[in-house]
Amino acid sequence: MPSRVAIIRGLRTPFAKSGTHYARLTALDLGKIVVAELIERSGINPNSVQEVVYGNVIPSVKAPNIAREIVLGTGLPKKIPGYTVGKACASSNQAIADAAGMIYRGYADTVIAGGAESLSDIPVLFSKNFSDALVKASRQKSIGGKLGAFTRIRPKDLAPDAPAIAESTTGLTMGESAEKMAKENHISRQAQDRFALQSHQRAAGATASGRFKDEVMTVVVPPSYESVVESDNLIRADSTLDALSKLRPVFDRKYGTITAGNSSPLTDGASAVLMMSEEKAKAEGHKPIGYLKSYAFAAIDPFDQLLQGPVFALPIALERAKVTLKDIGVIEMHEAFAAQVLSNIQWIGSKKIAQERLGRSEPVGEIDPEKINPTGGSIALGHPFGATGARIVTTVCNELQRTGQQYGLVTVCAAGGMGVAMVLERE
Ligand SMILES: CC(C)(COP(=O)(O)OP(=O)(O)OC[C@H]1O[C@@H](n2cnc3c(N)ncnc32)[C@H](O)[C@@H]1OP(=O)(O)O)[C@@H](O)C(=O)NCCC(=O)NCCS
Repeated sequence: MPSRVAIIRGLRTPFAKSGTHYARLTALDLGKIVVAELIERSGINPNSVQEVVYGNVIPSVKAPNIAREIVLGTGLPKKIPGYTVGKACASSNQAIADAAGMIYRGYADTVIAGGAESLSDIPVLFSKNFSDALVKASRQKSIGGKLGAFTRIRPKDLAPDAPAIAESTTGLTMGESAEKMAKENHISRQAQDRFALQSHQRAAGATASGRFKDEVMTVVVPPSYESVVESDNLIRADSTLDALSKLRPVFDRKYGTITAGNSSPLTDGASAVLMMSEEKAKAEGHKPIGYLKSYAFAAIDPFDQLLQGPVFALPIALERAKVTLKDIGVIEMHEAFAAQVLSNIQWIGSKKIAQERLGRSEPVGEIDPEKINPTGGSIALGHPFGATGARIVTTVCNELQRTGQQYGLVTVCAAGGMGVAMVLERE
């Protein structure tokens, strides 16, 4: 029988609103911080790590393979290869899936997977005209020649070109796509705000109770090491339905329902999990927080309801794990937007969607929005794209340990119409 894939432990930096605590750090800085601490806390011999797989959505132009840079930048043995995966918001789920594949095949027994994102450090590009002129100038030898390369440059060519969180196929931002879902599925503003409030209240409760102490590290921020970040800074313990209801819609200012309050915010942060084969974990005396039982990725047409990918991945992951939704005791759904979570839940419970879209006679099952995300979700905790998947996998495993439930479920929607579902189990 092939080995089970164990999650030994997971860790993340506190998540921070972009432009705040980690404003001067890159995704690589954040990734190095969390991986170094994960190794330290696990007490493993760094020489036993055979690969680092790391998710990152907006890569650095100068060091695009963040995984290998993490190996080289944390003092890990240089013999450890590393590669970077990009699958939008499901990138660290893909990193975990890749690591599991290596372990399952017996090609590796100890792998670090995770992801990082800095939305404080996005590449800002020059216009095509200006970058062409720069290249042309670099080829000229004389000062006159170099200056001559810029004669056709106009003021508008100097405007920076920053990447948008938009689909290249549809041209719509994630927020506009979520607006479309809210309208088509009749998800009310009030239902979205109530869900967002629940996310904040639960995240605040979990933080206050010390629930995150095993999975959130303290960051002493380089390079001055003067500021110390101990917890997430986006959680609003004092949030109220009244305050949320007063926020103006952002993506459709006239008729929209999606606001800064019921969306996940732009966030910086990093996460990592240590994964091993069950045999190796047991031989070394580790107590895994969980095992990856199955996973499935799926995708739909981005012109359709962009963030419904998890609905299509879920039944496949459940079948692969040989469980049903009723067997699942802990459910964590990534909250890109409250409207997306509520839309996912609506479709998962819909007989019409089951029959017309999933080729099933009955719905996958009912999910009570109050039962999911018991320690809050991405709306309150934040969503550093590349890091979120590994954050959620860690939280589900720790929650399985805390509650004694046997099976846990993770779903993450992602740009491009993609989605993932992962089933985890306790010992
Ligand atoms: C929605 C979005 C545009 C808002 O950005 P922003 O305007 O910088 O957000 P802010 O944090 O400044 O919040 C705006 C206002 O809402 C208020 N607010 C936000 N959350 C609140 C809450 N829970 N309760 C009360 N007020 C809240 C803020 O205090 C702020 O008020 P102010 O203007 O009086 O200071 C941005 O977060 C975004 O683009 N999110 C989506 C990211 C995305 O697409 N991710 C991909 C998902 S797959």
